[in-house]
Amino acid sequence: MRILGIESSADETAAAVVENGSKLLSSVIASSLDLHTAYGGIVPEIAARSHIEAIMPTIDEALKTAKTDWDNIDAIAVTRGPGLGGSLLIGVMTARTLAIAKNKPLYGVNHVEAHVYANFLTDTDLPNYAMPPAPPSFPLLCLIVSGGHTQLVLFKDHFDYRLLGQTGDDAVGEAFDKVAKILGLPYPGGPSVGQAAIDGNITSVKLPIAKMENKYDFSFSGLKTAVLRAAQEMAGKDYTFPSHELVGALTDEQKNNIAASFQHVAVQTLVNKLKLAVDEFQPKSIAIAGGVAASPYLRQQIEKQINQPVLYPDMKLCTDNAAMIAALGYQYMAAKKPPDDPYTLEIDTNLQM
Ligand code: KG4
Ligand code: ZN
Repeated sequence: MRILGIESSADETAAAVVENGSKLLSSVIASSLDLHTAYGGIVPEIAARSHIEAIMPTIDEALKTAKTDWDNIDAIAVTRGPGLGGSLLIGVMTARTLAIAKNKPLYGVNHVEAHVYANFLTDTDLPNYAMPPAPPSFPLLCLIVSGGHTQLVLFKDHFDYRLLGQTGDDAVGEAFDKVAKILGLPYPGGPSVGQAAIDGNITSVKLPIAKMENKYDFSFSGLKTAVLRAAQEMAGKDYTFPSHELVGALTDEQKNNIAASFQHVAVQTLVNKLKLAVDEFQPKSIAIAGGVAASPYLRQQIEKQINQPVLYPDMKLCTDNAAMIAALGYQYMAAKKPPDDPYTLEIDTNLQM
């Protein structure tokens, strides 16, 4: 079975074709990132306009790369939430139109849940993909870490999962992005903070690890504020000093030290909770998903501290893509779930797992 996946929840317009939920035939991603970098974050209106321009060429390219055509597509899966309203609408309306015009079953899927399914992509003939050697087994413990989400989920089976904990404020990727802004590093913050951290000292700045009532919940907004206060102090200023002026008041060495100390605490918070859940639930497989799963420092710390193999998607399938959407869409078909109505499928900007 071949599923066409469509993703447009943030700044990436993506389309992909996946066979039987595991073989990647194509993954095409058009990003409007360059247009947002100047603003230090995604501008929703720019993202929506870019999706309109990119979506049909991206889908055509995905079919072409997969060496397939509409006759050989069995279903369409599309992100219906969570995400930016204007962005989601372009993907969902396009998918609805194509489902009607090409007479294909349509599945609206949850973007956050779909991130997990990047770990079920284990095979491809495309060059330069490093994929997990085998798909995860159940029970599967998954840490989903992205710009919008930070959650720990225990899957007993497909569609049968329990949310163990999540962030009550900022997502971990969002914290990386905000710290990058304080340090004057480019957006997205994950890679740029990670790069600066290489030359920094992880113990040079004392930062707190949040204590939570539910041991599996996360909080990153206090850490971000602690970074701001530490940066102001290192610059010899008080808490009223505007954050956008810190860039010029800090040396490169200070910036690198802040980046390293922040990254260390953020990553250690994730690893601590993952470790606790591994001990309590003894999962058969552990998988990491979402944009922050691309962090080399996170991977290195997990390898050091978790005594069990951990699965990661290829770096290109950690950040937003449509292959993960198609991989989850396949599970809907395999489970014989009734398709969505292409005349009425709605977006849900706050869709929860
Ligand atoms: O999954 P994703 O592409 O979009 C969301 O669904 O949010 O995740 C984007 C997030 C951004 O916050 C970005 O800073 C972070 O993932 N990210 C990284 C890395 N690459 C992207 N964080 C740490 N290290 C990276 N290499
Ligand atoms: Zn995402």
